[in-house]
Parts: sequence; structure tokens; C-alpha cells
Amino acid sequence: MRAVVVEEFGGPEVLKVKDWPDPEPGPGDLLVDVDFAGINFMDTGSRVGFGLVGEVPAVLGVEGAGRVAAVGEDVSGFAVGDRVAWVSVFGSYAQKIAMPADQAVPIPDDIPSDVAAATMMQGLTAHHFVTESAPLAEGETALVHAAAGGVGRMVTQLLKLRGARVIGLVSREEKVTAAKAAGADEVLVSSDGDFVDRVLALTDGEGVHAVFDGGGANTFWRSIEVLRRVGTLVYYGPLIGEIPTVRMFDLPRSIRITYAVFADHIHSRELLLGHAGDLFEKIREGKLSVDITGRYPLDAAAQAHIDIESRRTSGKLLLDPRR
Ligand SMILES: NC(=O)c1ccc[n+]([C@@H]2O[C@H](COP(=O)([O-])OP(=O)(O)OC[C@H]3O[C@@H](n4cnc5c(N)ncnc54)[C@H](OP(=O)(O)O)[C@@H]3O)[C@@H](O)[C@H]2O)c1
Repeated sequence: MRAVVVEEFGGPEVLKVKDWPDPEPGPGDLLVDVDFAGINFMDTGSRVGFGLVGEVPAVLGVEGAGRVAAVGEDVSGFAVGDRVAWVSVFGSYAQKIAMPADQAVPIPDDIPSDVAAATMMQGLTAHHFVTESAPLAEGETALVHAAAGGVGRMVTQLLKLRGARVIGLVSREEKVTAAKAAGADEVLVSSDGDFVDRVLALTDGEGVHAVFDGGGANTFWRSIEVLRRVGTLVYYGPLIGEIPTVRMFDLPRSIRITYAVFADHIHSRELLLGHAGDLFEKIREGKLSVDITGRYPLDAAAQAHIDIESRRTSGKLLLDPRR
């Protein structure tokens, strides 16, 4: 099969398309023909060796959708040809992938495979953020960083469905439309962390109930500045800048901080199917939209990384390993 392989950690140029041995499904596994692989910002971290790919050479990518090509021993409930989607399975930027059947989410007949692939990482992440990390009530206000991005668009839409007010933050004027389309009530443009005064002005000086910040160290303390009393910082961007050091007594106004990691919130098959099922239901009802803005053949994986790191993309980027 063909796959995007990292042989040494580094910039986008280390992503090479190679012939790679077909994965072998072991007991409890499925072998899947990959139709779409999701590009996630975290993949840029894996590419540089940020603790996520332990050894190289390795096939990059953790998310996708495809069709079951073979069913391993001791697997029930799946048949060849079934459409499935997955997340947190390394080796997704490839034409085939083997995965524990427990991690395969059956795709409902009325959900296209590209939509399912685009929903898994960013949709599930946003879903547990807004249902567990900071479950805002109707009328409460959130600041959402990178509101036109993959996770940001999903967080914005899901908060609006809860009746919250969303102040979106984007780095460029041209992203305002995408953030507004996701439902943001107000959209601020700033690429250098200059948003504190404007957020406070929009909230009568009180600040917001929650900040959703994947922007890393560069925005960490400013996100805290705009929280109201007992507000919650949902922090999830360790890849950009230095990881901040926090001294408990420096935290103001009894605020709460959570570094929300997918695997802690969605740690069982039941939870995986429950969160995914709710997202598919909202898509089916037309309440949640998936905005696929870039589709790349395997050969263009490096360009996809250049694009997502450029801060120019919005919505979801997919690789199509069949091209
Ligand atoms: N903890 C978890 O379980 C979890 C799960 C999924 C994703 N994440 C994290 O969530 C964040 C968003 O991921 P995503 O896949 O949805 O990507 P994305 O938001 O589509 O793209 C990244 C966005 O980050 C913003 N950004 C801020 N500073 C940046 C910088 N110095 N360089 C590049 N981009 C910068 C940009 O938006 P603006 O230009 O508008 O600021 C950019 O569009 C990432 O930090 C990712 O690692 C965490």
C-alpha cells in the first residue's frame, strides 16, 4: 500500500509518500480500506516528535473513515464492506489501516464517509469540551479561540445549540465569515493576543464564563484575564509555544483550569459511540455542519501541513488516499 511516512522528525518536508507493508489485522482487529484521513493540527506535533509518535519510521495520522476489508479473529458485529470511522488510531495517512474493532465507529447509512471522518477528532473533542469541561448554560458567554478552525467551529456550533453566547476570535479578517457562519455572535480579529480589552468591553467588564483556548502559551494568561469569577479555562493547545507554568496563588477570581484530553473524557466504547451518535444525530437534523475546506491526495500531505500551520485555513482538511 501507499502511506505518508515520517522517517525523521522535522518540517512538512519530512512527510514522504512510500510503499509500506500492508497492516495485518490481529485477533480483535479490523483491516480497513481508508477512504478519507483527517488532517489535525496535532499531526504537526507528531511530525516534529511531540511525544505522540514514539518511534520513526511511522505512518502519520490518527483519524479517518473507510470500509472494512477483513475481520480479525474474535470480532463480532462487523462484516466486510461496513463503513466505519475512527480516531486515535495511528497510521491513518495510508491506503489501509488495522485497528482494534473497539475503536471503529459504524457510520450510519445517511452520513457520508467524508463527513464522518471530519467529525471524529474535532467534533468529538468539541463535544466533550461543551458537555463536560465547561457545560455552559443558556445565556452564558464563551470566548472561543481559532473560531474558524476545526475544533473552534465545532465548539462554536455546539455552544450555540446550548443557548450560549459566543465571542469568536480569529487571526484574519477573511476568517470572520466562517466564524460567523458557525454561529459566533461577535467575532474579534487578533493574531497577537490583543483581545482582552475588547472581550471585557463586550461583557460589561465582567468577563466570560468560559474560554476555549487551543492557542498555547501565547494566549494562556490573557485567556485567564478575560474570565469572570469562577469561570473556566478549557485549555487544549500544547503544540504552540512553551507550555505555561502555573503557580496556584497566581490564579485570580477562583477560576478553574482544565487541560482537556480526549482520552480522559472518551475512555470507553460506550462513551465513544454515545458522543459520536449525538454528533451524527445533530448533523442529520441539520443542526451541526461539517465544513470540509480542503481535500488533498496522499502526495500533497506536506502541503496540507503547510496550510494548517499557515493560519490561513478554516474548517476541516482531509486526505484522500485513493487519489
Ligand atoms: N486536547 C485534545 O484532546 C485536543 C484534541 C484535538 C485538537 N486539539 C488541539 O486543538 C487545537 C486546534 O486543532 P485543529 O486540528 O482544530 O486545528 P485548527 O484550529 O483547524 O488549526 C489551528 C488554528 O490554530 C490557530 N493558531 C493560533 N496560533 C497559531 C500558530 N502559532 N500557528 C498556527 N496556528 C495557530 C489558527 O487559527 P487563528 O489563525 O484564527 O488563530 C489555526 O487556524 C490544536 O492546538 C490541537 O492540538 C486538542
